[in-house]
This record gives sequence, C-alpha cells and structure tokens, in this order.
Amino acid sequence: MSYKAPIVIIGAGGIVNDAHLPAYQLAGFDIAGIYDVDKEKANAIAEKFDIPLVFDTMEDIVRLNLSPLIYDVAVPGSAVMKVLEQLPAGSAVLIQKPMGNDYQEAKAILQFARDKQLVAAINFQLRYAPFIQAARKLIQQGALGQLCDIEINVNVFTPWHLWTFLYESPRVEILYHSIHYIDLVRSFLGNPVGIYAKTVKHPEMSQLASVRSNIIMDYGEMVRANIITNHCHKFGMQHQHSYIKFEGTQGAIKINLGLLMNYPHGVADQFEYITFTGNEPGEWKTLAIEGSWFPHAFIGSMEQVMQTVAGNISKPDNSVEDCIYTMACVEAAYRSSEKGGVKLNEIIC
Ligand SMILES: NC(=O)c1ccc[n+]([C@@H]2O[C@H](COP(=O)([O-])OP(=O)(O)OC[C@H]3O[C@@H](n4cnc5c(N)ncnc54)[C@H](O)[C@@H]3O)[C@@H](O)[C@H]2O)c1
Repeated sequence: MSYKAPIVIIGAGGIVNDAHLPAYQLAGFDIAGIYDVDKEKANAIAEKFDIPLVFDTMEDIVRLNLSPLIYDVAVPGSAVMKVLEQLPAGSAVLIQKPMGNDYQEAKAILQFARDKQLVAAINFQLRYAPFIQAARKLIQQGALGQLCDIEINVNVFTPWHLWTFLYESPRVEILYHSIHYIDLVRSFLGNPVGIYAKTVKHPEMSQLASVRSNIIMDYGEMVRANIITNHCHKFGMQHQHSYIKFEGTQGAIKINLGLLMNYPHGVADQFEYITFTGNEPGEWKTLAIEGSWFPHAFIGSMEQVMQTVAGNISKPDNSVEDCIYTMACVEAAYRSSEKGGVKLNEIIC
C-alpha cells in the first residue's frame, strides 16, 4: 500500500509490544508517537521501537494538530471511553477489542463514534491473519464449492491466572477469547440468526468466570458453525489441538493454529487443503503461508483504517458499525448459556 498515514499509539502495554509494533515495523507504517499514563512504559517502548515522540498528555497529541493521523488505542477496556472522549471530532481510530465489556458498552462506543463522526474500527484482527486470507481466497475462488461448515476447536492449556484483571471480570472466555472466532465466522458467513451456547467454569479455576465454551452459531439448516474451546487441558502436548476447519461441498481447509499450543512458546501453524476434481477427492496438500496471527494479522486491522483515511474505501471492514454484531453475538452466547437448554422435565412429564 503506497499511502501510509502516521500513527500515534495510546497505551504502551503487552499487546503493543508483542503485536502492534512488530506488525507495523513489518508493514513499514510510520509511528509518530506514543502515550501512556505510565510514562516510563511509554519511554521504554519508544526506545525499543525507535518512536520519535513520547507525549505527556492526550492534550499534547491533539495540540500537535497532525492531519491525517490514526489513533491506535490499546488500553484496558475500562479506559477506552475516556480516551475516545479526548479525540477531536472526525478522528480516525483503531480500538483494541473487545468493544466494551458487554453489548451495552459496545452500543455506547458505537453511538459515541457516530456522534463524533469518527472513522472508528475495532481490532478484531484474526480476520486478517495470513492463513485466513489464504483460506478466504481459496473459498472465493470456489475451490471448496459451497461453504457449509466452519469449526474452531481448541484444546490447550491457557494460564488465565497470569491476567489478574480477569479475576474481576464477570465474563472471561467468550468475551476475551472466543470473541475472535465469533468475529471470524461472521467475516465468512455474515450474521447468524441466533446463538446457542454453554460456557462453564473449571474446578481448578473456580475464582474465574467461565473458561470453557461451546458455541453454535445458527445459520439455518444447511450450515454448521461451531466453536469449541477447552483452555484447561493440562495433560501435556500429546493431545493438545487448536484448529480452524472450513468444509464445502467440493473441498476442505484445515488450519492448525500454533500460537495457542504449548503456551507461551507456541508451535508452527499448518495450512492443509483438499479439493475434489470431478467426482474424485484429490490429495490433502500443504500450503506454505508466510506470517501468522501474531503479529502479522495486526497489519490488516490497521490497514483498513489507513485505506479509509486515504479515501480508497468508504469505511473499514472492521468498523464499529460491523463489529457491533460480533458484540451482539457475544451477548447472545452469554444469554443462551444462562438460559440453558431444553429441560428434561419438559420432556418427561
Ligand atoms: N488479540 C488481541 O487483539 C489482544 C490480545 C491481548 C490484549 N488485547 C487487548 O488490548 C488491550 C490492552 O491489553 P494489554 O495486554 O496490552 O494490557 P496492559 O495492561 O499490558 O497495557 C495497557 C496499557 O494501557 C495503559 N493505560 C491505561 N489507561 C490508559 C489511558 N487512559 N491512557 C493511556 N494509557 C492508558 C496502561 O498504563 C498500560 O500500559 C486490552 O483491551 C486487551 O483486551 C487484545
């Protein structure tokens, strides 16, 4: 992409260090400056990534009057609104996911963005991971025939206790993790008509809200879209798995997501696909894919905002107007889980 608007980063935390800035370096994006309420953290990141300006306050950024400029907000969800309120009307902003803690907060962010005429997008970046872009291309080319099945299945050990803020959160797994998969499924199939879900706690993580989930996204009679996550598999690597599978009438793709396996080291991703030729199934083939979810996917979510600022597209694909539906799905999943399934005593009476 030729046009690259400068970026100011708000929040100098883990995700900026691990994913945003490594991705932007790869993409050759211009980082104009960084701000964090904790200036020492901002200074350390600025030094590491060679960022020219470290701001003392949000007002200092606004006062510079840089135009165009993209605000890249990566602060805890509870601080997002406070940051947005300080942006000039019409600003371009990429906001870290989730879009608020629940649907009410998501609606408030959406309304605020509309009122202030922001070009606002949410950093649901899995949509742009290189292996997902490769899958999307194959599917768009018709290599799978009619897409009728998406399954995301994760059986790993995730040390949730490392993120201490989660102990305070009434929602954990779907809001912070499966939300990526819900957003991904939407990016292929659009909005489901409804959601069935059951999300549960774990006896050894009883101080946390639910950490394992089964989510069915309802696309009617011909499509199956399932998300199954168990983050509590503490029994070694032998039976850990983490994959995204697409099936159509003429072919299938299976992507092994290495990032979540053997945490925090990860293993290599793998992209395999098969297509029918005539009535015969071909052979499973492996496609070499350059780059992964972290950090490469983070280029895509920022690029959408950049393309909008450049006038090349009318709005980001990951705009708040679109992502509000991912938040609606998350809300529906929690409500479905609370409501429960059909009770046996309604059947046996
Ligand atoms: N895959 C993903 O997209 C992904 C992965 C991890 C985290 N996240 C999200 O990214 C956000 C940040 O996560 P993290 O792990 O970097 O957290 P972190 O705690 O490491 O960093 C957050 C930073 O924000 C700063 N901050 C807080 N309030 C601020 C304010 N008002 N103005 C400026 N700076 C402020 C803090 O001082 C801290 O340095 C969270 O919303 C989290 O959910 C997304």
